[in-house]
Formats: sequence, structure tokens, C-alpha cells
Amino acid sequence: MADESPKANRKPPFPAWLDPVVKIGGVGAGVGTLYVVALLYWGIHPRAMDIGYEPNQPVPYSHALHAGKLGIDCRYCHNVVEDSPFASIPPTQTCMNCHSNIFPESEKLLPVRESYATGLPIEWVRVHDLPDFVYFDHSAHVNRGVGCVECHGRVDKMETVYQAKGLSMAGCLGCHRHPEKRLRPLDQITNMAWKAPEDPEVYGARLREAYDLNPRTDCSTCHR
Ligand code: HEC
Ligand code: HEC
Ligand code: HEC
Ligand code: HEC
Ligand code: HEC
Repeated sequence: MADESPKANRKPPFPAWLDPVVKIGGVGAGVGTLYVVALLYWGIHPRAMDIGYEPNQPVPYSHALHAGKLGIDCRYCHNVVEDSPFASIPPTQTCMNCHSNIFPESEKLLPVRESYATGLPIEWVRVHDLPDFVYFDHSAHVNRGVGCVECHGRVDKMETVYQAKGLSMAGCLGCHRHPEKRLRPLDQITNMAWKAPEDPEVYGARLREAYDLNPRTDCSTCHR
């Protein structure tokens, strides 16, 4: 049976004696390229750094409902954000403060009640994740006039949290070099809707002076 496909009739672009060499070389180069791409993609550039990354979560917990409509402050759940490098994900107990009474029968809250009963934590999927070679500190920002919204976007409008902004080195440095427009009073850190009462550049410059801010840009600030 003759193969009629154009591929079968095409002559290889090299003499036949080179065939094994080209094949082996080709495979080698292919694997090498894949390796480099994989390294760049998963090593230096983890998927979780992508803008728009929105993993499914084990419970349909909505920030739009809890932080938006119900107006619960971010720090009720992310309660170490002002004192530590991490914002932390709340333990099941925090949910049960309300949900032992509110919707105690809800289907959607079944994994929460199970976690509470067994003591096994809910396996929330991480959304924002810097590479391990970067040092970041929440408290260094939120106690210095940088609000959550600057780095996470309007979380209070998200049904499911997604990565709204990039976490690239260029992004960090852009603000470290010129933070003025992105500063706010310390009592507005978790207010997602806050707007400067005047030109943000002028207002921010005043805050910068009042808080004596000098964000560092030397490599060891973030790579230690
Ligand atoms: C009632 C508790 C609660 C409140 C209030 C709350 N959160 Fe969360 N937050 C969670 C839980 C639980 C998760 C993990 C599940 C998820 O990602 O949705 C989370 C996840 C997040 C994440 C993603 C973390 C990651 O994996 O990268 C960000 C960012 C975040 N919250 C910011 C905020 C901000 C900003 C506010 C205030 C506007 C806020 N949260 C209010 C409970 C809360
Ligand atoms: C301060 C109180 C409070 C806390 C803390 C709280 N919730 Fe809620 N949650 C509510 C209220 C109130 C509602 C119902 C809102 C409505 O529909 O009127 C609700 C609704 C829900 C629903 C929807 C239930 C359904 O059947 O429609 C889910 C899911 C949920 N919460 C998950 C969580 C999780 C997970 C946590 C912990 C990270 C949490 N909640 C913490 C008050 C709270
Ligand atoms: C200057 C930028 C910036 C600000 C401001 C900021 N975050 Fe984050 N947030 C990040 C980065 C970057 C990560 C990922 C950290 C990592 O991978 O080590 C993160 C991770 C998180 C996480 C996941 C858990 C953790 O601790 O890693 C939560 C929850 C969170 N942020 C909530 C908040 C809340 C709430 C606020 C405001 C009170 C806030 N963030 C302010 C940049 C910021
Ligand atoms: C919106 C502005 C803004 C963004 C974005 C931002 N920073 Fe900052 N950063 C600041 C300010 C303001 C300070 C506090 C400077 C001071 O205290 O003088 C700071 C301080 C820090 C510190 C503390 C340095 C020390 O002296 O210990 C670290 C570490 C840091 N930032 C890392 C990062 C990283 C990593 C990113 C990106 C993922 C980032 N920052 C993004 C504004 C920002
Ligand atoms: C304000 C925080 C900050 C400072 C200062 C900083 N970096 Fe980074 N750097 C990051 C973050 C965040 C990443 C990961 C995200 C990315 O790759 O853009 C990163 C990634 C890198 C990478 C990985 C390659 C890449 O581009 O993805 C190298 C190399 C690097 N930084 C070198 C440096 C050097 C050299 C300096 C000093 C001149 C420096 N960094 C200063 C935050 C910083």
C-alpha cells in the first residue's frame, strides 16, 4: 500500500549516511531545549507568578461576600500580616467562629466542618508564590503605608482569588524607586476603595516624608 501523504515523499534535507547522527543530535538538542524551557518556566518563573492565575479552591469561599459585602476586615483572617513576613491563611477555627451558627448545614461548608472535626487543615491552593530566592516581608510594607490593594488588586470583589498583578522584580523595583503615588495613611491599609484626597503624587510625597520612607534597591534587600 503506497503512502500518498506529502510527508512520505519528501526527501530528507541531508545525505542518508548522516541520518543516525542527525536523529541523535536532534533528540539531544530537543531534550536540551525542553530542559532549559522547563527550568525557566517552573524554576525561575513558577506558574503561580502569572497574572490571572486562579486555582480552584476546596471550599467555594468568596472574598467578594466576606470582605466585600459583609465588610470583614482583611486582618480578621490574615491576622499576622502586620507582625510578620507572612499574611497567613486562617485556620478552620476562624471560619467556625461564625459558621458553627451561620449556615451550619450548608453543603458548601462540608469540608470546613470535616476539617474542624478531624483537625486536618483545609488544603487551600496557593495563589501568589515568589521563587524561593526572593525575600519578601508583608509587615515591612503594611506598616509603612503600602496597602494590600497595591499588590493584590480588588480582592474584595473577587469570588475566587486570582493573581491580579505581576510580582516581577521590575514591579518591586518600580515602586521601591518611586513609591509616592502608591502610599496611603496607615489606618487605610486594608481599605480597598481608598483614594488620595488630592493629587496622589503630592499627597504621597508628604506621607513619604512623614513616615521617613527609603525603600532599598540593592540586591541584598530581596536576595539574601
Ligand atoms: C473570613 C476570612 C477572610 C477575610 C476577611 C479575608 N480573607 Fe483573604 N483569604 C482567606 C482564605 C481562607 C484564603 C485562602 C483561600 C483563597 O485563596 O480564597 C484567602 C486568600 C487570600 C489571598 C491569596 C493568598 C495566596 O494563596 O496567594 C489574598 C491575596 C488575600 N486572601 C487577601 C485578602 C484581602 C486583601 C482581604 C481584605 C480585603 C482578605 N483577604 C480578607 C480568608 C479571608
Ligand atoms: C464573621 C463571620 C464569618 C466568618 C469568620 C466566615 N464567614 Fe462565611 N459566611 C458568613 C455569612 C454571614 C454568610 C452568609 C452570607 C449570606 O448569604 O447572607 C457566609 C457564607 C459562607 C459560604 C456560603 C454558604 C452557602 O451555603 O451559601 C461559604 C462557603 C463560607 N461562608 C465559607 C467561609 C469560610 C471557608 C470561612 C473561613 C475562611 C468563613 N466563611 C468565615 C460569615 C462568616
Ligand atoms: C508590596 C506588595 C504586597 C502587599 C502590600 C501585600 N502583599 Fe500579600 N503577598 C505579596 C507577595 C509578593 C506574596 C507572595 C509571597 C511569597 O510567595 O513568599 C503575598 C502573599 C500573600 C498571601 C498568601 C500567604 C502568605 O503569607 O504568603 C496572603 C493571604 C496575602 N498576601 C494577603 C495580603 C493582605 C491581607 C495584605 C494587606 C494587609 C497584603 N497581602 C499586602 C505582596 C504583597
Ligand atoms: C507599592 C510599592 C511597593 C511594592 C510594589 C513593593 N515594595 Fe517593598 N517596600 C516598599 C516600601 C514603601 C518599603 C518600606 C521602606 C522603608 O521602610 O523605608 C518596602 C520595603 C521592603 C523590604 C524591607 C527592606 C528592609 O529594609 O528590610 C523588602 C524586603 C521588600 N520591600 C521587598 C519587596 C519585594 C520582593 C517586592 C516585590 C514582590 C516589593 N518589595 C514590592 C514599597 C513597595
Ligand atoms: C525589591 C526587590 C528586589 C531587588 C532589590 C532585587 N530583586 Fe532580583 N528579583 C526580585 C523578584 C521578586 C524576582 C522574581 C521575579 C522575577 O524574576 O522577576 C527576582 C529575580 C531575580 C533574578 C532571576 C532572573 C529573572 O530575571 O527572573 C535575578 C538573576 C535577580 N533577581 C538578580 C538581582 C540583582 C543582581 C539585583 C541587584 C541589582 C536584584 N535582583 C535586586 C526582587 C528583587
